[in-house]
Amino acid sequence: MQHPTTHTGDAEAATGIAATLKDSTWDLHQQAESGELQKRLVKGELGKHEYAAHLGQLYLVHRTLENCLDAALCDQVKALNSEDLHHTGKLEADLAHLSTDPADVKPVPATESFTDWIEDTAKDNPTALIGVQYVLEGSTNGNGYIARKIGPALGLEEDGLRYLKSYGPAQRETWARFKSRLDTLDLSDDARERVVAAARRTFEGVRDINSELLEVLAGHKKPTGV
Ligand code: HEM
Repeated sequence: MQHPTTHTGDAEAATGIAATLKDSTWDLHQQAESGELQKRLVKGELGKHEYAAHLGQLYLVHRTLENCLDAALCDQVKALNSEDLHHTGKLEADLAHLSTDPADVKPVPATESFTDWIEDTAKDNPTALIGVQYVLEGSTNGNGYIARKIGPALGLEEDGLRYLKSYGPAQRETWARFKSRLDTLDLSDDARERVVAAARRTFEGVRDINSELLEVLAGHKKPTGV
């Protein structure tokens, strides 16, 4: 997808962290959108077992992030965090529908290293968690599209698609609200840089998890701990 216009001039780009995040990560979005797992999901080439395995890794990532956001003592993280932006419950419901017990989900090595990094970031540099939340929350924009493609392919309507359809018809307004809340945060230049770096690390983390999961599903690699 072409880079959509996010701002009307340099002055606005310089002040809005939401626009800065988009401008500074769109190259990685292009990669994410054209990743092998995303392409196969959208084409309906993954079965229910593979889809459940994908949701399982996302579950581990969201659970780690949400625990860290809820425990963070940083004012900016607290200002942005809210219960209605949490996705773990929807992922648990989808996994249960797909006959997977969330407690049985094993991380692939890239998931383990990414969730370890989230936990380290929460200790050393909690403001940067905002960059992680931006990427995962932003991914809800493409998730509705993926749900429309894989729902019919996998014979799923609501159950099994709760995470992908997170905000349903309220997607655009929920995302717009999240971005305006981002823009009200009082972030120093240094904090902004750390948030952007964390957003880039998150895109890379998701990319690595997705490609490693395909290797595990193909039997070329074992998940951690097995
Ligand atoms: C098939 C895969 C994907 C499709 C079709 C897709 C599509 C989209 C679309 C249509 C938007 C809205 C763009 C706009 O109007 O401004 C968007 C935004 C976004 N997507 Fe994706 N996406 C995909 C995968 C991903 C993945 C895997 C991630 C991250 C892990 C991601 C993260 C984001 C973020 C952070 C934004 C917000 C950009 C901004 O407005 O700041 N996307 N995506």
